[in-house]
Amino acid sequence: MTKGRSSRRGAALTMALATVVLATASGCARKADEVSAAQDGGVVHVACGATEEWCAATTKQFSKTTGVKADYVRLSSGEALARIQAGKDNTEFDVWYGGPADGYAAAGDAGLLTPYVSPNASAIPAKYKDASGMWTGVYIGVLGFCSNTKLLAEKGLPTPHSWADLLNPKLKKDIGIAHPSTSGTAYTALWTQVQLAGGNEDKALAYMRKLHPNVLQYTQSGSAPAQMTARGEVAVGVIFSHDCLATKEAGFPDLQVTFPSEGTGYETGGVAIIKGAKDPKSAKKFVDWALTPEAQEIGPSVKAYQVPTNPNAKVSDKVVNLHSVKLVDYDAAKAGAAKPALTKRFDEDVAQEPKS
Ligand code: F6P
Repeated sequence: MTKGRSSRRGAALTMALATVVLATASGCARKADEVSAAQDGGVVHVACGATEEWCAATTKQFSKTTGVKADYVRLSSGEALARIQAGKDNTEFDVWYGGPADGYAAAGDAGLLTPYVSPNASAIPAKYKDASGMWTGVYIGVLGFCSNTKLLAEKGLPTPHSWADLLNPKLKKDIGIAHPSTSGTAYTALWTQVQLAGGNEDKALAYMRKLHPNVLQYTQSGSAPAQMTARGEVAVGVIFSHDCLATKEAGFPDLQVTFPSEGTGYETGGVAIIKGAKDPKSAKKFVDWALTPEAQEIGPSVKAYQVPTNPNAKVSDKVVNLHSVKLVDYDAAKAGAAKPALTKRFDEDVAQEPKS
């Protein structure tokens, strides 16, 4: 599916990328952090939508702080939802952590979550949590464009600054974006189009169809186009801006983040308790802890630069300033309610969901 430009890049690139791939790729095996300090007797199994590194650091620190054992499986948003749905009569997970809240809203609508209003949720602003406790926000991420400026310069193309710019025919097969059925990032991009079209889903899908000839590949995981862009397989990735920054910091200085002038979408990364959790007491402890400044300050230590939702958490100066970007009105509950039907339409009208 690639255009073979990666062969022009050296082995060094590939080596450096391995770090990023490890940090972001969707995994299936459960990773346990058998922390010796864990003595509480409880164990929490986490469906984790953040980066692999953040999932590992978070479960480890949770165990150290609370004495509760924790393990995780890294899953993209749509994959997590499908797996939680498939296991609903005998759930393998106690909590879902990370990944855009619209996936949680969809899971709540499908009866897959147990509402829990943590005492620590009082610190989180109302717009970053569900009032009934179906999900609570732990971070905010802003969707942007991740450009390989060197490649664009070679092609004599400008860095894109608008959704309209992405439709330039000269970007044919030069854009990487994930698929909204598997990826919360890509669903954020799709719902952003709905908002920009005044709520008109037909117009949003029409935009995605126009974009389609420029898309080289719809990936499963939302951050994968960052690596495609770094490798020079595509010139632009539509991803969360923090994933572009993390990849740039991994050794790809030519990457540049821009935000679309028409407005862009954002995610509230959630945490929630899965209905039927085998260890609900430990699940509540995990949610309580995930909302603390201690938990929310882990991100930057593993190159995850989302905005914390707890106003008392320290904010890295690498984190995007939410006031400096034009954001669309992103209602996770509405986006979640629309998700099953809208992703189905995308499958039918734009492109089929990628299968691993
Ligand atoms: O890489 C981290 C991240 O961008 C999170 O901020 C986000 O919630 C998640 O990945 C989305 O992943 P996906 O698009 O694969 O569902």
